[in-house]
Amino acid sequence: MTEIIIKDNLLHLRNDHISYIIYVLEGGVPAHLYFGKRVESLNPAAILRHYDLPTDGKWWPHNCALDHTPHEYPSHGLGDLREGALTIRQKDGTRSADLRVTGWEVVDGKPGIPGLPATFGDNAKTLLLHLKDELIGLEATLSYSLFDDVAGVVRSVKLHNASDAELHIERAYSLCLELPDSRYDLITLTGAWSREREMFRRPLVMGEQGVSSLKGATSLHASNMLFLARPETTEERGEAIGAALVYSGNFKASVHVDPGRNSRVFLGINDVDFGWKLAPGETFHTPEAVTVYSDSGLGGMSAQFHRVCAEHLVRGKFAKAPRPILLNNWEATYFGFNEEKLLKIARTAADVGVELFVLDDGWFGHRDSDDSSLGDWYVDTRKLPNGMRHLTDQVHAMGLKFGLWFEPEMISPKSDLYEKHPEWAIHIAGREPIQQRQQLTLDLSREDVQDYVYECVASHLREDGIDYVKWDMNRNFSNIGSALLPADQQKELPHRYMLGLYRVLEKLVNAFPDVLFESCSSGGGRFDMGMLHYMPQTWTSDNTDALCRCQIQYSTSLVFPPFAMGSHVSAVPNHQTGRITPIGTRGNVAMSGCFGYELDLNTLSAEDIETVRQQVKRVKELRNTLLYGDFHRLLSPYEGNDTAWITVSKDKSEAVFMLTRALAKSGTAPVLVKLRGLDENKVYTVLETGESYSGSELMNLGVSVRLPWGDAASVSWTLKAE
Ligand code: GLA
Repeated sequence: MTEIIIKDNLLHLRNDHISYIIYVLEGGVPAHLYFGKRVESLNPAAILRHYDLPTDGKWWPHNCALDHTPHEYPSHGLGDLREGALTIRQKDGTRSADLRVTGWEVVDGKPGIPGLPATFGDNAKTLLLHLKDELIGLEATLSYSLFDDVAGVVRSVKLHNASDAELHIERAYSLCLELPDSRYDLITLTGAWSREREMFRRPLVMGEQGVSSLKGATSLHASNMLFLARPETTEERGEAIGAALVYSGNFKASVHVDPGRNSRVFLGINDVDFGWKLAPGETFHTPEAVTVYSDSGLGGMSAQFHRVCAEHLVRGKFAKAPRPILLNNWEATYFGFNEEKLLKIARTAADVGVELFVLDDGWFGHRDSDDSSLGDWYVDTRKLPNGMRHLTDQVHAMGLKFGLWFEPEMISPKSDLYEKHPEWAIHIAGREPIQQRQQLTLDLSREDVQDYVYECVASHLREDGIDYVKWDMNRNFSNIGSALLPADQQKELPHRYMLGLYRVLEKLVNAFPDVLFESCSSGGGRFDMGMLHYMPQTWTSDNTDALCRCQIQYSTSLVFPPFAMGSHVSAVPNHQTGRITPIGTRGNVAMSGCFGYELDLNTLSAEDIETVRQQVKRVKELRNTLLYGDFHRLLSPYEGNDTAWITVSKDKSEAVFMLTRALAKSGTAPVLVKLRGLDENKVYTVLETGESYSGSELMNLGVSVRLPWGDAASVSWTLKAE
């Protein structure tokens, strides 16, 4: 149960798992005292002494006190000489904000944020801490929500201009978290196309460290989250703190360690390409940040994030539904298809039990390669002479659902749309537009562009019997300028773009609640909590090589549960790595997410087709557990040759265990793996071997697994409790 206890200027937010404690110092500056495992009470003296502050609370205007106070929301320009979370420029050009607490409110539930994705849930309480800078008339509300079932806090900030002069926000992070030491390793996820979310762990050092994006999207190169783990923290044991942003645009995630060895964590919109004019009476909302705490290792931390995603972020009828097993034609045909070819692929897919056929890129305009037609979202009748509806009707008649690929945020210079509206592309007047993948980005900060994009997608959803949309986004921002924004607001473009995109998505998911949306960005370039609020699954990576996927899915699972990860079996040699892996291995790895195929099944041998049939059957039987069970990482591909994980149904009656080895080694013993998450009092039978073990044995001794012969060998076991 969440409670917010307020006494003597001490605001103690807590549930059964964690406490978050704020202390309003004399003069009204909110100090951060504690975030961690639940405590019954806290005497501020110890923590104030740690920061060398007077323990009688009479600190103001103590010499330089602001500079070593642990702040809730520090601002730049006054007595705190460190980097702050907030920078405000006044009419006279000076930059300072002195926010003091004016009051607080406790509300039941979790308020939404206008125009932005946000967590939700009734089993929550929210503290709204009101602050004001009297001199410049800036009001701020710091929002802190605790859900009963999450060991964490969700935070965001509202800024309001209550003066009669313009204010300019130059920086407004979502989160500042002060920690009274720096004995942590920092873990971040960085990567590249087809190599998303590689996990890096290194000790915190004095100074600033972290990750960021200026690409207009979360990006392939860095994820908008960070994790702090004690040096001794493992998967199962030790303290870890994780913070993730519910946003999909430019971000910054950083930790600053000061000379006193204290750490200040920031997470929010990257201010390098951000600014916001706040006219008198206007309000600005930051995106929200989810911060979780675990004293049971990185595994415990991920369990909290997974719960947030499952219970408080993903919406709609697919949130907890069995996701359809799909077949996507991209790697089967690329741009070279016609109706007949597609139907042949779909027919075999239907025959093996696939449930959804997805037509990827190349069905519109005159798109025979990636050099044209984005923006011209009408059917290419050279490839589909009978139109889209004719195709979807035939696919539906096979008993399959039908899905369609869009890349609605883009415009090709070679398109009818660009001829009509070159000013709709993000551009800087007078400069040659820089292309990536031979395309430009539409200026979604504009309402006319938002409406066009909405209608392009909506018209197909209304008329063509579309059950699923793959929403792609394949290039980053460059030449960042908008034809409509005035000079002093050009820095607002990246955030306005996100607000525009969220507006379109919100409208679409509400208008078409029966359509399943999957987010994609050159693979997993926008895998974040923001997109997940609109689209319940994300294409994890264009890299479908089973061994690479072990790594990518392993680290993606730090925050995201299996139901969020699109995960397919593709052809060999693999199109990204050239590697040949057994079809069983490809299936075992892909099963740990939203399962599907990315190849022409007609090219497989009769034996492989039979394996596919069995995979599809098995996934249908186990999908509730595979998607919505508790996911535990067991062996890390970052630490060795083997990857293992297990997904356990909520009632612990069923589990699916997977072990995959990268390279075969002779002369090695079978692998002994300790399983997790099972009921120690139950006895489990492994259906594939017929052997039975007690849950306690499986978790304490482990189980010895002999892998098949050869590289990329894998086993996947179904465990059923007796
Ligand atoms: C991106 C996606 C792929 C595919 C192509 C189509 O790269 O990640 O899955 O849809 O675009 O052009």
